[in-house]
Amino acid sequence: AIPVILDCDPGHDDVFAIWLAAAHPAIDLRAITTVGGNGQLEFTTANARIACTVAGIDGVPIAAGAAQPIAGVLRPADWIHGANALGGPVLPEPTVGVDQRPALTLIRDVVEASAEPVTIVATGPLTNIGLMARDHPEVLSRVERVVWMGGSTTRGNVTPYAEFNAWTDPESIALVLDSGVDFTMVGLNISHQALITPEVRERIGAIGTRTAAFGKELLEFFCSTYEVAEKMPDGPLHDPITIALLADPSVATTVRSHLEVELHGTVTRGATSVDLIDILGKEHNATIAMDLDVDRFWALIEEAVAALD
Ligand code: BDR
Ligand code: CA
Repeated sequence: AIPVILDCDPGHDDVFAIWLAAAHPAIDLRAITTVGGNGQLEFTTANARIACTVAGIDGVPIAAGAAQPIAGVLRPADWIHGANALGGPVLPEPTVGVDQRPALTLIRDVVEASAEPVTIVATGPLTNIGLMARDHPEVLSRVERVVWMGGSTTRGNVTPYAEFNAWTDPESIALVLDSGVDFTMVGLNISHQALITPEVRERIGAIGTRTAAFGKELLEFFCSTYEVAEKMPDGPLHDPITIALLADPSVATTVRSHLEVELHGTVTRGATSVDLIDILGKEHNATIAMDLDVDRFWALIEEAVAALD
């Protein structure tokens, strides 16, 4: 199984990424680290613990990382995820603890202890990995690859061209790209294919477990905010596509391309520039996820939910 550290900001769709990573036999989830993003760090860390508590995931260390992006001040996505970043279900008191190490220390310890190179999957602003590129490049150079949900080859969702994770911390993306680590972007262009239709919600609810019931409430809340914010009643389940792609590469097509992020635009800060037409003739420094096998993706999600408590 592939050793994975999941760096996340739960967040409704992050919770499904945690569950898929914990349940899929091709993934060996070694650690969860958190970042300020969908909510302030206190909320995203508590929510990672809650996601594990609900699903009966124990033995995976959870450590808190950066509260703020490298530049500027965090503006949480409360219009999508609610005031506690996990609106909808009544949240249980987490019984899964929090590791006392800072996230970067936990990541370093896991990377150094692993016989095989570790993959980092990031489903929030890239702050923790950007700080690692800036301050601990020797650790990042031992990482197999970074698979990140964020950016877009097309539209944005916070501004016309910037996606939330990219817009929150574009400096971190630039640092990670500059590090030369093998980088995969799972952007809105593919995640908007993973639409949470009423049929999907029904099938997940029908699994009948505690995790399924909690998950269905998450999906219902998430779809209700997407309906208001983006006129999309079937919200997109962005984050777990990263884990799905790792566990089962046939779930999506990818292309190699040149990726950069806009740091200074007057209206486009945080936009990702993906040169799909190769017009710049620059080095292909990233793998870009493109087309999702939608049925295969939902089968992976449903199998994961069914395998948990
Ligand atoms: C991304 O932003 C967050 O709202 C989601 O969790 C996802 O990581 C989508 O733009
Ligand atoms: Ca996220």
